[in-house]
Amino acid sequence: MLKKLKNHYNSFTSQNLEDLFKLDNKRFNKYSLKASNLFLDYSKNWINTETFTLYEKYFEKIDFNLVRHQMFNGEKINFTENRAVLHTALRNSKNNSIYVEGKNIIPLIRKELKKIDNFCNEVHSGSFKGFSGKSIKYIINIGIGGSDLGPSMVSEALKPFHSSNLPQVYYVSNIDSADLIETIKNIDIDRSLFLIASKTFTTQETMENAKLAKQMVLDHYKGDIKSISSHFIALSTNKNAVKEFGINLEYMFQFWDWVGGRYSLWSTIGLSIALYLGMDNFKKLLAGAEDMDNHFRSAPINENMPIILAILGFGYNNFMGLNSHAILPYAQYLNRFTAFIQQLDMESNGKSVNKNGNLVDIPTGPIIWGEPGTNGQHAFYQLLHQGTQKVPCDFIAIANSQHGIDHTNNILLANCIAQSQALLKGRSLNKVINEMELQGLSKNEINKMAPHKVFQGNRPSNTIILKELNPRSLGSLIALYEHKVFTQGIMWNINSFDQYGVELGKLLTNEILSELNNNNSMINNNSFDSSTNGLISFFKMNQ
Ligand code: F6P
Repeated sequence: MLKKLKNHYNSFTSQNLEDLFKLDNKRFNKYSLKASNLFLDYSKNWINTETFTLYEKYFEKIDFNLVRHQMFNGEKINFTENRAVLHTALRNSKNNSIYVEGKNIIPLIRKELKKIDNFCNEVHSGSFKGFSGKSIKYIINIGIGGSDLGPSMVSEALKPFHSSNLPQVYYVSNIDSADLIETIKNIDIDRSLFLIASKTFTTQETMENAKLAKQMVLDHYKGDIKSISSHFIALSTNKNAVKEFGINLEYMFQFWDWVGGRYSLWSTIGLSIALYLGMDNFKKLLAGAEDMDNHFRSAPINENMPIILAILGFGYNNFMGLNSHAILPYAQYLNRFTAFIQQLDMESNGKSVNKNGNLVDIPTGPIIWGEPGTNGQHAFYQLLHQGTQKVPCDFIAIANSQHGIDHTNNILLANCIAQSQALLKGRSLNKVINEMELQGLSKNEINKMAPHKVFQGNRPSNTIILKELNPRSLGSLIALYEHKVFTQGIMWNINSFDQYGVELGKLLTNEILSELNNNNSMINNNSFDSSTNGLISFFKMNQ
């Protein structure tokens, strides 16, 4: 099957994307669709009806429907960690049952959601008070990776939905103390609530920052340990560690091992979102994701938005050698969206061993990168247009401005459309020469300059449009990418739900840390290479 797909993609190498539009004036209609609050134009890609026919067969071969069903049904598809993968259950509003190890998890989810709701009411009404009796105005979420990127991206994206009577939110993730220190400058401890967000409650960065924050609070209240339960709450799966840290278990918001870190914003890890934007908005976010879940479960392959994105990426990565993918939101509020997708995609599909334990013989997850437009246009788009490698791009645009300033919004949208058009069409040498002749330039000047002004074009892109950026549409957008990544994982026959690749660095950090912390000028660990030794010595000599 993969051979047939390869041959199919080989036939595309001689097809210029722009010509596909010339051959078929209905191409845009054929290769665009609306689904759960989003619109996708994928016409500027190498794709045709045969592509879908071939992938339909491929999906049958890899039992795609079965694995998708297994995920939604709570089967332990994360087999290396022996866990179910059930972030979709967190946004399931139906009254059905989903069982994990014989236990229906839906009532557990509802109970925790209710607890979030009640707690938001307490904080928002002012009945939850800090140690000195003042109400809470500042939320500081201390977490990293999935315990930071999702909530911080959503809070930033939905800023216009924050009302001034709700608390402000800050996110601290980096072990560099600058992150916490700069945040503390903005807040009044009497009115602050620290959310320690960590699935494991063992992550070094989070626990060290949490300890620092705890010390600051203790110093503020002259060492009175009772102050901790008024200013710290935990979002975690690890009760013992939360208790040991000194957080009142009444203020521990639970989630479960079947929620992956990078899929956890829908769980109690999203508490900062609910506190900042209000519970109604958090529920709309969940509802938007559920819209996409329903679409993903039921739409046929050629009308299924996440599957279409997955197919396109799979084809580029595997058969056309395009191993990098840019996510380019034309929306300042989506400033952190690419960073969030980077973890979602690269931590899920950055794998080189398949489910059978063998090395893969095809490229898997691409490099995900990008920045919001139009800023990126003035930085790296040069390479997108004239560099030696083609980079498939996802442009994400919002039809309506948040602030009713249509004039600048239309400039933003025009730029977005222009970029995908330029990638598609390029500018030929003949056209460049004609333009230069019209400008009255000499033959010499034209010969010297013209090649540098040529754009090859023939570069693929998608455009995803949200009518408005609101909780519901954002929920759908995030779930769109979650299901794209899930689909590609099945296509590559890898486990998208573990992340052993982050472990080695953590282990080595501790070995190096003990060398950095000891007072000897000699390095004790003789297993280090000379570069590692040299770097450790350099730091020690320069501290
Ligand atoms: O180190 C990677 C990772 O395990 C991510 O998968 C996770 O989102 C992040 O660290 C934070 O983990 P935790 O929520 O357990 O602190």
